[in-house]
Amino acid sequence: MRIWCSGNIGGFQPLVAGSTPAIRTSYHVQSERMPEPNPHDTASVGTTVWTEERRDWETADFTSLKDGSAFPKEFMWGVATASHQIEGGNINNWSAFEPRSKSQQLSGEACDHWNRRTEDVGLIKDLGVSHYRFSIEWSRVEPQQGKWNQDALQWYSDLVDDLLVQGIQPMATLHHFTQPLWWDEMGGFEREENITHWVQFSTKMFELLSDRVEWWCTINEPAVYASMGYVLGEFPPGVRSFKKTRLVSMNLMRAHARCYRTLKAMENGNRCQIGLVKNINLFDPYRRWNPLHWMQTKLLDGMFNRCWLKGLATGRFKPPSGLFSKRIDGLKGSSDFIGVNYYTHLLTTPFMPTKVEIDPLIRPWEQRTDFRYPMYAVGLRRAFDMVRNLNLPIIVTENGVADDDDDMRPEHIRRHLQITAEAIADGLDVRGFYHWSLMDNFEWAEGYDQRFGLYHVDFETKERTLKDSGKEYAAIVKAHSMPQLVVMAGGLGTRLGSMTENVPKSLIEVNGKPILSHILDWAKRQGCMHALVLTGHHGEQFDGMTHPGMGLTFHREDEPLGTGGALWNARELLEERFILVWGDDLHPIDYQPLMLQHSSQNAPLTMTVTETHSSSNLEHDGNVLLAYDKRTKDTSKLNGYEAGTSVIEKSTLLKHGKDGKWSWEETAYPALAGQAAVHVDNTKFWDMGTPEGLASLEKFLNETTL
Ligand code: BGC
Repeated sequence: MRIWCSGNIGGFQPLVAGSTPAIRTSYHVQSERMPEPNPHDTASVGTTVWTEERRDWETADFTSLKDGSAFPKEFMWGVATASHQIEGGNINNWSAFEPRSKSQQLSGEACDHWNRRTEDVGLIKDLGVSHYRFSIEWSRVEPQQGKWNQDALQWYSDLVDDLLVQGIQPMATLHHFTQPLWWDEMGGFEREENITHWVQFSTKMFELLSDRVEWWCTINEPAVYASMGYVLGEFPPGVRSFKKTRLVSMNLMRAHARCYRTLKAMENGNRCQIGLVKNINLFDPYRRWNPLHWMQTKLLDGMFNRCWLKGLATGRFKPPSGLFSKRIDGLKGSSDFIGVNYYTHLLTTPFMPTKVEIDPLIRPWEQRTDFRYPMYAVGLRRAFDMVRNLNLPIIVTENGVADDDDDMRPEHIRRHLQITAEAIADGLDVRGFYHWSLMDNFEWAEGYDQRFGLYHVDFETKERTLKDSGKEYAAIVKAHSMPQLVVMAGGLGTRLGSMTENVPKSLIEVNGKPILSHILDWAKRQGCMHALVLTGHHGEQFDGMTHPGMGLTFHREDEPLGTGGALWNARELLEERFILVWGDDLHPIDYQPLMLQHSSQNAPLTMTVTETHSSSNLEHDGNVLLAYDKRTKDTSKLNGYEAGTSVIEKSTLLKHGKDGKWSWEETAYPALAGQAAVHVDNTKFWDMGTPEGLASLEKFLNETTL
């Protein structure tokens, strides 16, 4: 008997039923890496690294994931979903197919995300991630040809706003396996002339959202769509035809290229990043000594991976099982980034199976996921190596595991992130990682039987509960993320004279925008996603202020409380750890080393100190504050000046704080002598609190781009 292994990892898994032949446990696999990328070498695109490294994960050291030193500060931390899998109530090619699907389960209400958008954005926020990948359901937006549903358009627009308010960057996918029935009945991707309708829908969405959504995915996993729908028949339309597979594959690539070119030519096209999402499914010969196993492996790798990547690089596409390649207009280079979805590798033998339902072969040391394919984290590195010669930024647009009881997912997350961090350290341009998925959802042909979420969903009550794996992911994200930014913006601005009579000093404009916007811009570039702005004097003028991509909260004092009193007054809104900056100081320092020092010294507070300022107000020994006195006449021992940006543990405030009016620096700093950490950074700080300060900053900003 011959069988296919199912699961939407491409399904190209031939197996021999019956007993599992013994594997040579002693086989040695050495590490082999791709050579440095060469932009002119399109022939090597999609080339597979054929070694199958076996890593001893028992001895793996995950410290850098936990202490926040594994990833760069700009790394995109995300979670991903797709419309049909979570929204509920969709009517499309999938809902029509479900009664005939393998599980015969209906998507129905799914996670009822359509009615729980606000709650779900809250769940994303609670994970602390900076990015969210979702897909737009074409069948909702254009339920009948040419008839746009304003409510649905508004819903997606609101989703984007809800995310941005929380400082979460949206990434929108335009096709994730589903399409409206009217278009499906016209033949969907089987007819080249239908592409135009999908491009029109994409244009509509781009017009609506591209002022706020920078990241766009055209088509999710074209190889999965084609193979599951037209080879294995497990996805709609449930067909088994190589002829149609070739046709549909060709049209998917045409559609991607046309969509990319059309959107790029539109307003915002150039500032948006638009890319294809490719599932990299690795194939390895079951018996590495058997040439027949190798032949089959290379064939499947060619059909599932290589031909698509080569198409993107060269503009000529040879669809799976096709003999000839064809040039596709606009295909060459039609991606600003490459999205990599990675789940596993499959061990191949030459038998072409026709039915599902027996466990795929795995190595004896591998662990099966609920989908029955193995967890194989090193394969993610091979997936990166396969796409690296495209010379595009790489984003892991999906990685996750089906694991009902969540006993495997925490380790799955650690291993795949470790591999990603290693790749970055080796010079690969991996920009982000989106965990699949935010919550348990409708897993296509598997229905609700496979759970991929960081949140558990009770499909009866729709209750969401954070799993241990969700806590693990959030902890790693947190270790790599900037804490809350607190901006002290309530002062009277007396030194600025008449300028601040009617305007709070942080709202005075320098170089075309308020001082506060310059401060927030810098903090955002450092990775801060949320800011608490403490206002007072003319505080009403901050009402309604937003900062793109950053979540802002304002808290106003009713009477001048001084810097300490203002912090104390806002203590309910402070997070456990926060970065404090002054609302009239631009201090463009790198926050990451400051944070790392703060964590490694386990300090109650870490202040930034410059040794090149014209005066001094403290004494330090390079690491620790020895004394602070901003009024002393005896400056002989002083060797530094407190430069503005500091990291504070909330517990420190709670220990030293009190009601009423008081100065933070004059109370806390002397009290923390011998304990507070000192981070020496001689970057100039721009004090805008005086007319001269404002003028010199204006000059500086005119001459430099930060
Ligand atoms: C798809 C997701 C799916 C996931 C897990 C990916 O191929 O894009 O929609 O849920 O795999 O199987």
